[in-house]
Amino acid sequence: MQYTFEQYQQSADAIRAKIGSFQPKVAMILGSGLGYMGDVVENAVAVPYGEIPYFKVSTAPGHKGQLVFGILEGQPVAVMQGRMHHYEGYSYEEVAYAVRVLRLLGCDTLIVTNAAGCVNMDWKAGDLMLITDHIKIFMESPLRGENLPQFGVRFPDASHLYTPALRDLARKAAGELGIELKEGVYMYFPGPQYETPAEVRFARIAGADAVGMSTAPEVITAGHCGMQVLGFTLLSNMAAGILDQPLSEEEVLEAAAACRDKFSRLVLACLKQIG
Ligand code: HPA
Repeated sequence: MQYTFEQYQQSADAIRAKIGSFQPKVAMILGSGLGYMGDVVENAVAVPYGEIPYFKVSTAPGHKGQLVFGILEGQPVAVMQGRMHHYEGYSYEEVAYAVRVLRLLGCDTLIVTNAAGCVNMDWKAGDLMLITDHIKIFMESPLRGENLPQFGVRFPDASHLYTPALRDLARKAAGELGIELKEGVYMYFPGPQYETPAEVRFARIAGADAVGMSTAPEVITAGHCGMQVLGFTLLSNMAAGILDQPLSEEEVLEAAAACRDKFSRLVLACLKQIG
């Protein structure tokens, strides 16, 4: 299915009917562990995905499935509590649908976080990584199909999807907080099975530092419609084959819980300083 511009507008209008004249500036898509941030938004108005035309519901565990509008660190935000994944059965266009709706509502910046497997052998589980770039080469693009010029051009540049100025800001914020922040490349795999050890070796040779099942589709869509992007990865586990142990969702959720405080402090400090 290909959505029309009018459908995106209808979704935005349905949200506007609930949030009135409030205009969010920063959209936040928070992966495993950080979704709680939607609960600490001030003057919050929560809009369940099910009440927004054409929105899909997120089925992943720990994902609430609502958009929370309000103020966080002094910024007008739209926090997605729960994101859609391709492995849930959604097309890439569906996975990234909300990004365009949030753009229509006025967001010019996207902060995106995820948990991912660590491919870089010099790093360890529990490290935080600033995403400098991503690799998403084998799967189709969320922009496939007729281009909607209201959002962007047919062949968008992808040289700086992760906005350099926001990366500078994140580095500085991490330094001020005394939080160690790695920097690297996120490689997208569709899942839901974790990667094989051979795929992880391939990712490393390809130049990746982390492997995960989200983020790239939303970031491609955000870049297409002219949004600035800041992305962080929590390296929740060493990727498959590095340690002699099977991967499990429990390990990922435990790491997310253990790092929640450090991760939140960094994301909130960045949010506060976004101009
Ligand atoms: N691979 C893919 N996605 C993930 C991983 C991983 O090792 N850990 C958390 N999300």
